[in-house]
Amino acid sequence: MLNREEAIIRIKQLRETLSESNRLYYIENAPVLSDFEFDSLMKELSDLEKQYPDLVTHDSPTQHVGSDLSGSRSGSREFAQYPHRYPMLSLGNTYDIAEVEAFVERASKSIGNGSAFTFSCELKFDGTAICLTYRKGVLFRALTRGDGTIGDDVTENVRHIGNIPQKLSGTGFPDEFEIRGEIYMPYEAFDRLNEERERDEDPPFANPRNAASGSLKLIDPAEVGHRGLECTLYHMLGENLPFETHDQALNAAKSWGLPVSDKRRICRNIAEIEEYINFWDTERKFLPFATDGIVIKVNELPYQRDLGYTAKFPRWAVAYKFKAEQALTKLLSIDYQVGRTGAVTPVANLEPVQLSGTVVKRASLHNSDQMELLDIRIGDYVYVEKGGEIIPKITGVELSKRGSDVSLPHFPECCPDCGTVLVRDEGEAKYFCPNSDGCPTQIKGKLLHFISRKAMNVIAGDATVEQLFNLGLVKDPADFYSLAKEDLLRLDGWKERSAQRFLDSLETSKKVTFDHVLFALGIRYVGESTAKELASYFRNIDALAAASREELLQVEDIGEVIADSLVAYFKDARHLDMISRLKAAGLRFETEHEEGPVSDALKGKTIVISGNFSISRERMKQLVAAHGGKNSGSLSGKTSFLLAGEKPGPEKMKKAGTLGIPVMSEEDFMKMISDGNRPAGMPESTDKKQLTLF
Ligand code: IVH
Repeated sequence: MLNREEAIIRIKQLRETLSESNRLYYIENAPVLSDFEFDSLMKELSDLEKQYPDLVTHDSPTQHVGSDLSGSRSGSREFAQYPHRYPMLSLGNTYDIAEVEAFVERASKSIGNGSAFTFSCELKFDGTAICLTYRKGVLFRALTRGDGTIGDDVTENVRHIGNIPQKLSGTGFPDEFEIRGEIYMPYEAFDRLNEERERDEDPPFANPRNAASGSLKLIDPAEVGHRGLECTLYHMLGENLPFETHDQALNAAKSWGLPVSDKRRICRNIAEIEEYINFWDTERKFLPFATDGIVIKVNELPYQRDLGYTAKFPRWAVAYKFKAEQALTKLLSIDYQVGRTGAVTPVANLEPVQLSGTVVKRASLHNSDQMELLDIRIGDYVYVEKGGEIIPKITGVELSKRGSDVSLPHFPECCPDCGTVLVRDEGEAKYFCPNSDGCPTQIKGKLLHFISRKAMNVIAGDATVEQLFNLGLVKDPADFYSLAKEDLLRLDGWKERSAQRFLDSLETSKKVTFDHVLFALGIRYVGESTAKELASYFRNIDALAAASREELLQVEDIGEVIADSLVAYFKDARHLDMISRLKAAGLRFETEHEEGPVSDALKGKTIVISGNFSISRERMKQLVAAHGGKNSGSLSGKTSFLLAGEKPGPEKMKKAGTLGIPVMSEEDFMKMISDGNRPAGMPESTDKKQLTLF
């Protein structure tokens, strides 16, 4: 048990890890933790908060669902956003059957001993949540979960998903209702998509769930139609629905042509629930799509209403999650791979084995400590598990199967690529090759990082970088911008069109904002959010390069490790030279001004503000006034729009919905006031998605 001081430190760590992991999972579709790891950390945080309730904060990841809202990356939002009529919550989950038993007992007690009630047991589909609204039998809107309060409008994309009807069939559907479910990608479509992506040098998706959420947020609805997505619906909501049970509601939905799973079962007691769980724990391996558990719901709707909700979950349902599938196979050899940062990772080559729908041939061994801990030998039989990432990991060795012909692996002392002696910094789990500017793998890794989507977003991949580097055409990122078409036509299979496409993409990348350029430089420990922080604090690269260690430590979230890394980076003349060549090529090394002169962009508009913004609310109000708008505290027919930041008041959002008042995000608001500063003669913005009408 941690004492209070220890708990404060651990809670801070857990919140940071979980928030970052949520962002990577929901926004980037690139998870770093397996579900089990994520859920265990969340449980640890929740237990600590129970032990020290005064340490609970409203922004703790235990208090809200992760957000998938499309966002700020490119500076413009891709989807309009609308409030959810009913909050879109998540499910409490457990890996422990005893907790399912406890849930059943709690529900029985609360409903009242003796009252007859049942449970609906269902598969937990592993995809991305969707909320469909049907009005007069016609699909009216499809929203993602978003942050649970507001969702992204993906209606046009959803219209291209084959098993979602545009129009209901049958009779008896309510005038308006919502039905929620999951959009998922069957294994077959997932494999096809990843093969295609590898051919096109796009990074493959880590798993079908990320592929589904990534595909649902595509800009081109027709492309969504080619991705092979499917939908299953599992929760109907509406005013005065004419059903007694959840099961009846889903049966009715099915009769109207909506896709509802036929793998549901009504159970009367824990024994039947456990039977259902055990059956699907084995049988799910033969399903053509991914499931990650079983959902158990109280079936009778009046009892659901009595049990109600916590801030995050319904009290009438729980998810039992399956542990990640494991497979046993033989370790054939170990490769030692050098990454972009010089970290050396041992990667196991395995006898191919089937695992969760795919054949696994390689698995990560993390680092030399992990190898020692597992006491692993070449020739051993090892357990492989799929986490959230693309490369599965080795989690154990089956010692009972160890033969006499096994051999002890040797972690290399020198870089397998450039031969430099490896080093291991204090507190680091990994060995590093220190030759960061001379080791070919590290250089190629840095080049790839530089052009990656979250950095300069240039359309190219491994094979292109490999060729450009091998031909000596690109040695550092600045070289990309001196490439000529003739250089590119020397690459294998490149023609006029591919060369032009690449050059155009490089040209477009010059518009990428300073924080992304800074991230693209690949300075050790400077990830996306650190780059944002630094760009907004120092405003330009010269100020950042001149900053002392002490000045750097003044910036929020910058600790000694990052500060030292920055100082070392800007001390190196080669880096400064590269930056000046990138500057000369026209890349942005300055943060743009956020606001222009005062305008009348908001003249005649009455605006209500709710939620948290990146600037103080007071400052936001000043901005409204400075641009000719009127601030108001409450919503009425006269309100022009509700300016909603993060976590807007639920009552305000609901009222905006009822009164049909548009909701505007901070980002769109900023765009609106800066459009208002347009010099005379400039065309108006054509972005029709600025205002989102409920
Ligand atoms: S019911 C109020 N049923 O799993 C919450 N959810 O980890 C009602 N999910 O948020 C959700 N299969 O996105 C429900 N048969 C099922 C499900 C299911 C998958 C998803 C859903 C939920 C998440 C929780």
